[in-house]
Amino acid sequence: MRKIKTYTDSASLTGAAVDEFIRLAQNAISMGGRFNVALSGGTTPKELYGLLANRDYQTELDWFSIHLFWGDERCVPPEHKDSNYHMVDEVLLSHIIIPDANVHRMLGEIDPNEAAAKYIRQLENHFQHTGASMPVFDLVLLGMGVDGHTASLFPGDRSLNETHQWVLAVEHNQPPQPLVTRLTLTLPLLNAARNVIFLVSGESKADTVKRILVEGERLPAGLVEPRGGCLVWMLDEAAGNGLN
Ligand code: 6PG
Repeated sequence: MRKIKTYTDSASLTGAAVDEFIRLAQNAISMGGRFNVALSGGTTPKELYGLLANRDYQTELDWFSIHLFWGDERCVPPEHKDSNYHMVDEVLLSHIIIPDANVHRMLGEIDPNEAAAKYIRQLENHFQHTGASMPVFDLVLLGMGVDGHTASLFPGDRSLNETHQWVLAVEHNQPPQPLVTRLTLTLPLLNAARNVIFLVSGESKADTVKRILVEGERLPAGLVEPRGGCLVWMLDEAAGNGLN
């Protein structure tokens, strides 16, 4: 099931995304005792994390029952400016009290293939008692690039054809994105999630949003269709301009 929600501007988009995050977290924790969420890099998701750090929400979020994973990571040290972990640490983790054991960082500083294997084992360990054949995130947050990439799944890349591995190391060589090796969750794992939310804002994304949501172009972000879960595209008016 896919929903498209459009908001006046990125601030109201982010505010609505916080409410949805809190709702899903509270539901998951009351149903199963914990909330497993995969975070995205990107400027729009970053605004959400910054708002989540706001003191006003601390009474509504039980961080001791929330487990943070990453949907992708650049293969750089955690303190590097291009690290998605570094971004989340700066705007969220350094402002909240969350157990270290609840923060499941991808190890961008080690050999990429070894880091992918380690993350798969970390996922296996964390989700092993769920009885499901693969990890089922309560929520996957995603951004989308102008080229239609999401996480670190880029157009034309072999990673889009992966049907078994949950995490891959990928080479990305298309500026303006930083030219680094990356780690990414794959489509089988993203599509196993209970809820996937795309956070997309800005006029630069409008054409790509239209190509995916109106014309059905099979760009990477358009391949995220959770099998049994809910898919919500949360857009500001600028990014959703081509949908009218
Ligand atoms: C990354 C992100 C990537 C991001 C998009 C959108 O590591 O680069 O995970 O998938 O979400 O590039 O980023 P913006 O919202 O900044 O355009």
